[in-house]
Amino acid sequence: MSFNVVIDKTEKLAEDIYFLRLKSERVSGKAVPGQFVNIKCSDGLNTFLRRPISILRTNPVENTFDIVYMIRGKGTRLLSCLNSGDTIDCMGPLGKGFTLPEKGEKICVIGGGIGVFPLLFLLEKSIDVNKTAFLGFRTKDLIVLQKDFEQVTNRLIISTDDGSFGENGLITKPFLDFLETEKPDRVYTCGPLPMMKTVAEVCIEKNIFCEVSMEQRMGCGIGACLVCACKTRHNDDYEYERICRDGPVFGAEKIVF
Ligand SMILES: Cc1cc2nc3c(=O)[nH]c(=O)nc-3n(C[C@H](O)[C@H](O)[C@H](O)COP(=O)(O)OP(=O)(O)OC[C@H]3O[C@@H](n4cnc5c(N)ncnc54)[C@H](O)[C@@H]3O)c2cc1C
Ligand code: FES
Repeated sequence: MSFNVVIDKTEKLAEDIYFLRLKSERVSGKAVPGQFVNIKCSDGLNTFLRRPISILRTNPVENTFDIVYMIRGKGTRLLSCLNSGDTIDCMGPLGKGFTLPEKGEKICVIGGGIGVFPLLFLLEKSIDVNKTAFLGFRTKDLIVLQKDFEQVTNRLIISTDDGSFGENGLITKPFLDFLETEKPDRVYTCGPLPMMKTVAEVCIEKNIFCEVSMEQRMGCGIGACLVCACKTRHNDDYEYERICRDGPVFGAEKIVF
C-alpha cells in the first residue's frame, strides 16, 4: 500500500515553509486536485502516524509531483531535514478531490494559510474558465507561490491579517465584497474553519455551488481508524464521515461546522 518516493528537489520558500518535488509515476499519473499524500516523516516510532499533505501539482511527463508544507510540529520539522536524493515512505494519492468546473464557467477559490496549496492544482486543471483567487496570509513574509497563482488566474487578490501586503484583514472581506456585484458559478475553499464556515454560509444563502476541503488530524488516512471523522448533514439528520476517505472535499451544505 505504501511506497518509497525519491526527493528530486527541495526549496525553502519562506520561514518554516518548504517545497518538495518528489518522483512517483503512480502519484503524478493518477492524482486529481484536492487529493493528498500521507507521508511517514521519519523511520521508526519517532513520528509513528503519517502526516497528510495536499498535492500542489503533478507533472506526468517528468513523473513528479510537488507538495508545500509548513512546519507545525515534530513531523513536518523532520521532513524539513530531508534532502534531494533521500526517500520518503508515502501513500497516495488519497481522498476525494474537487469537482472540476465546466468550460466557460466563472469560479472563485478562497484559501487561507496552508489551505492555499491544494487550490493551485485545482486552478491549473480548470481549463477555459474565468478564475478569481482570494488568498489570505497572516503577514507578508508568509506569502508564497504568488507568481504561480498569478499565472493560473484572471484575478488574484491577496490579503494579510496585519495589512503588511495587499488588502488589510481577513480574506473573507474582499470575497464578500466581490459577491455583492458578481455571481461565480462555483466557489472552492480551503483553510481555517471560521473562514470556510463564512464562505460556505454565504454560498448556501446565495445558492452558489461550493466545495470545502476539510483539514483534520489523521491516523490511517485510508478510512479504517475513524480518527478523522467529521459531522455531516443528511436531510434532517446527521452522520459522521471520514475526511480521509469520504473527503477531504465535501459539498459546503454537508458540513456541520
Ligand atoms: C487533507 C489534508 C491536507 C493537508 N495539506 C497540507 C499541505 O498541503 N501543507 C501543509 O503544510 N499542511 C497540510 N495539512 C496539515 C498537515 O497535515 C499538518 O500540519 C501536519 O500533519 C502537522 O504534523 P506535525 O507533526 O508537524 O505537527 P503535530 O505535532 O502533529 O501538530 C502541530 C500542530 O498542528 C495541529 N495539527 C496537526 N495536524 C493537523 C491537521 N491535520 N489539521 C489541522 N491541524 C493539525 C496540531 O493540533 C498542533 O497544534 C493537511 C492536512 C490534511 C488533513
Ligand atoms: S484517518 Fe483513519 S479513518 Fe480517516
